[in-house]
Amino acid sequence: MTVAVYPGSFDPLTNGHMDIIGRALKAFDRIIVGIAVNRSKTPLFSLEERVEMIREVVKDDSRIEVDSFSGLLVDYMKHRNATAVIRGLRAVSDFEYEFQMANMNRKLHPDLETFFLMTGQKYFYVSSRVVREVASLGGCVTGLVPELVENRLLERFGGTP
Ligand code: PNS
Repeated sequence: MTVAVYPGSFDPLTNGHMDIIGRALKAFDRIIVGIAVNRSKTPLFSLEERVEMIREVVKDDSRIEVDSFSGLLVDYMKHRNATAVIRGLRAVSDFEYEFQMANMNRKLHPDLETFFLMTGQKYFYVSSRVVREVASLGGCVTGLVPELVENRLLERFGGTP
């Protein structure tokens, strides 16, 4: 059984994330979506809200588990007995940050491998940050996030579906 952890902030989950999960499931038997607790960021959705939302979105697929972790990703990986990290790449601009993170994780835990998957073309420009900004200003994010997430954004910022 091959298990991979897909870590991130997921604030909120986008269809770009869903695209990466779908691709990862072609190579791994199970995916643990690991929502990181980041004390330096004030999230739009609380950790509990993000866990609940993602669980609801993926509830029909038993190969996907949704969990949260605080502290270092490498420690969480050890705790979950997982050695594969999944990260999505959209544009070259993602690379520098991802390169730094993958190498730092490798230094901290040499047995851990990071697997990069390329997001589907239609999601190249989608990020949680852009979705938050557009939704907060009343813009339409239909198709960029799962319907449940879109409804939560509308509840948060006002508006009708
Ligand atoms: O979705 P994001 O915000 O790009 O995800 C970043 C994340 C959560 C994967 C990264 O910040 C992380 O792994 N945080 C846990 C703390 C940690 O291990 N930091 C050292 C990695 S260089």
